Amino acid sequence: MDRNIALEFVRVTEAAAISSAKWMGRGDADAADRAAVEEMRARMNALDFEGRIVIGEGERDEAPMLYIGEKVGRGAKGGEGSGHGAGELPKFDIAVDPLEGTNMTAKGLPNAISVLAAAPHGKLLHAPDTYMDKIAVGPLAVGAIDLDASVKDNVHAVAGKLDKAVEDMTVVILERDRHKSLVEQVRKTGARIMLIGDGDVSGALAPSLENRGVDMLIGIGGAPEGVISAAALKCLGGEIQGRLKWRSEEEKKRAKDMGVGGGDLDRKLTMEEMAKGDTVLFVATGVTDGALLRGVHFTSTGCETHSIVMRSRSGTVRFIHAIHKFHVKRK
Ligand code: FBP
Repeated sequence: MDRNIALEFVRVTEAAAISSAKWMGRGDADAADRAAVEEMRARMNALDFEGRIVIGEGERDEAPMLYIGEKVGRGAKGGEGSGHGAGELPKFDIAVDPLEGTNMTAKGLPNAISVLAAAPHGKLLHAPDTYMDKIAVGPLAVGAIDLDASVKDNVHAVAGKLDKAVEDMTVVILERDRHKSLVEQVRKTGARIMLIGDGDVSGALAPSLENRGVDMLIGIGGAPEGVISAAALKCLGGEIQGRLKWRSEEEKKRAKDMGVGGGDLDRKLTMEEMAKGDTVLFVATGVTDGALLRGVHFTSTGCETHSIVMRSRSGTVRFIHAIHKFHVKRK
């Protein structure tokens, strides 16, 4: 069943990507995000499954749509229109980032994607909307990283596993003031750095894909993006480790009350703790051109999209190039 739904989910990210791509370069990040959220929600609610958002646009009081806890899919309406009764549809917890890279879309910059990850109930970490310290590598460097080790030790260990000179390594880091010392530490090792303006989901996935020219991602980004990256790396056979980075004591207290991290809010999280089991799905569609996927390209008759669809059970990675005709009536 997860096999079929994965291919249905890609239609959801395609639709969200197309809607937000219409806002590319128009300088309105909120409108681009809203377009993706509305389309993603409408498409998801037309699918035959019973879903619950575990990572979304925020808490119920701050997000009118795709908020944490929102029920999605036809199952949310008791199976109405699905030919199934309530409780008969497959159940999934869903993590979404309808537009990962809102500012990049607004500015027409590369690497914006629309993303959705799914897994059976309770298998995705319920990450609060805070930050996460992350380190991620591809399949050939699994086992070499340790978030508790120094930057130098990590870079050398990954280079060793990849059988590469440290000077030939490329490390992706989000360009942020908070990363000044991290950048210095990586430069000291001799490794090269690719600074990205936004979009550390693409950055975390890149080392797991061939010909992306990237060996690892290090640094602090969004916690929800960390869990979404964990779902993707689970499918790709890579590795990510994370540690939640709290912005305030109040945030920490709320997380504790929610039962996040099993009581210890500051411990290192493994990929398995963020995305458990072997039934994890990940789909993404490019909004703007990027290292992971090409963006939406509009043509005289419609548009073309590029997506990635993966399942952890099979490890199959599908790249789907779709040609959408806007004049053909939707069924
Ligand atoms: P959004 O487009 O969803 O806002 O996220 C972009 C992003 O760059 C993420 O990829 C990253 O994890 C996060 O923002 C970093 O947060 P901040 O911009 O606050 O440093």
